Amino acid sequence: MHRLLWNTCKCYVFHKKWLFLWAFVCGCIYGLTSGLGLPLIFEKVFRRIFESSTVYSYAEIIGMAVLIPLGFALRGISGYLNVVLMNRCGLYVLSHLRTDLIEKLQMLQLSFFDRNTTGDLVHRVIADPKKIQDILLEWISEGIKQPLQMLAAFGSLIYLSIKNSSVALFLVFCVSIPFCFLPVRLLRSRVKKYSRIQQCTEGALTAQVSENLNAVQEVRLFNLAERVKLKMQETIEAAALATNLVVAWQKLQQPIMEVVSAIIIAVVFTYAYCAKVPFSVFSAMGMALYLAFDPIKRLNTLFGSLQGVTGSIERIGEILRQVPTIQSPANPYLGACSGSITFQAVSFRYSNKTPSVIHQVDGIMEKHKFYALVGPSGAGKTTLIKLITRLYDVTDGAILMDGVDIRQWDLKHLRQQISIVSQSTILFNDTFLENLRLGSPNATREEIIEAAKMAYAHDFICEAGGYDSRIGENGNRFSGGQRQRLAIARAFLKRAPILILDEATSALDSESEALIKKSLDTIRKQKTVIAIAHRISTIQQADCIWVFEKGSLVGKGTHEELLKTNFRYQQLVSKQLIGGSQPKSN
Ligand SMILES: Nc1ncnc2c1ncn2[C@@H]1O[C@H](COP(=O)(O)OP(=O)(O)O)[C@@H](O)[C@H]1O
Ligand SMILES: [Mg+2]
Repeated sequence: MHRLLWNTCKCYVFHKKWLFLWAFVCGCIYGLTSGLGLPLIFEKVFRRIFESSTVYSYAEIIGMAVLIPLGFALRGISGYLNVVLMNRCGLYVLSHLRTDLIEKLQMLQLSFFDRNTTGDLVHRVIADPKKIQDILLEWISEGIKQPLQMLAAFGSLIYLSIKNSSVALFLVFCVSIPFCFLPVRLLRSRVKKYSRIQQCTEGALTAQVSENLNAVQEVRLFNLAERVKLKMQETIEAAALATNLVVAWQKLQQPIMEVVSAIIIAVVFTYAYCAKVPFSVFSAMGMALYLAFDPIKRLNTLFGSLQGVTGSIERIGEILRQVPTIQSPANPYLGACSGSITFQAVSFRYSNKTPSVIHQVDGIMEKHKFYALVGPSGAGKTTLIKLITRLYDVTDGAILMDGVDIRQWDLKHLRQQISIVSQSTILFNDTFLENLRLGSPNATREEIIEAAKMAYAHDFICEAGGYDSRIGENGNRFSGGQRQRLAIARAFLKRAPILILDEATSALDSESEALIKKSLDTIRKQKTVIAIAHRISTIQQADCIWVFEKGSLVGKGTHEELLKTNFRYQQLVSKQLIGGSQPKSN
């Protein structure tokens, strides 16, 4: 368990070793002044003042008395510095842990996200590291101070016992120590179990909240408010139950420990009275006893909270241990790209447990030609695009670009060659300019405006306040058609040799679509264009149409050829609707 925490955090500790070291030194000073300094000062001062026959001058008395505030001052300052420095260390670990998690998530293949909900991942990046920060802060600060204080106080007890022939006192202390750690041992497994459940239910809760916020419209339109509330209530109650159980078991340690230490202290006092121990020794030993027991109490609590954070460490570890399966190879291909794509017996399944969704697709897409992919919804068209862009890797076969397997390409370089307008348009809460510049960070203002004009987005951008005005959260105030036009402008701007349009004009009215088609005509001579579309008007223009059915390529050819020879295509055309979603009004 400690190893798990240490393994998760050690690289950050090494980065800030000097800060940790200073915090450690301050913790040591605190522990030593508490456990050793204070009891010895008290013994010395009390003996001289109350029990010595020598008459001291006022100056000498004051000189001795001053030792007490000095001891406390040293303890206070070192304790304070330890906390402040540890806080900085803890924040450093927190921020780097979060950054590393986010970095890892950016690299991970999409299949990982198919298995984990967004909300749960948000919880793992935000809440779980915070728990680790808290425990680390407590551990490194208390984990140095308390054991040292305990050992030092233990040392002063030995010293005082031997010096004052009170060995029995010391023996009582030794025998009692194992009992003090008993509560932690007894309750550990339960705390661990419920803390894991607690973190998982809280993750599920975050997932539900984010899911609901993403579907506010649907919740209202389908009158789901009551159902959503009940479902959330269930999760909230499960999370509350787990938290209650963690707290109940964790907090049980404290009273057990206190009763055990109170029994020991009572025995010590009784002994001191019977053995007629002098006041100076009695008070100093009493203090040493307190200073030795207090750390045990705190360490017990600390062990308890360490069990409580196990769930978070495991959940974070699950992400950090993931090895991205889709990466650039060791010596990646970084050459030029003309835009030809070859499919060699490509098959694909989303996971080992699900059936194959692409079967044995063979074919060549030549450069600077226009390809249309058609087929009913669920036929595998979008999946094929995901394979070209390496969002997923083929399960069997290979995809080649310019004759080189895309798995040999540098991943960034590969994606730079492809402009894509996907089914859903993601817009960021930034200016129009920045949203359009997304795929081409170096584009000038003029180039951006030109691309927006080609995508017939210029007019509505001007009406909405111009290129420097903000889009608003996810561009919610714009219609589906307007959002698509922004996405198309973004793709035009990227100037990549391959342009992919996945139902990119589905939300456009026929007039806008016709205008965009005109723009496409001007650029398609320099690009390989792959369009998944359902309108015959778009498809007819294609140099070659690929017909998909249940993941298989069942026909290839021009509109006229397929109309004559391909039954499946004839069916699609006769329905006047080829695959995908229904055309929506703008
Ligand atoms: N992330 C995913 N995980 C598992 N199955 C998926 C995933 N995405 C799509 N599928 C399945 O793959 C098949 C093909 O989907 P898709 O390529 O989106 O079809 P199309 O674009 O032709 O409508 C469908 O059966 C769909 O349910
Ligand atoms: Mg699709």
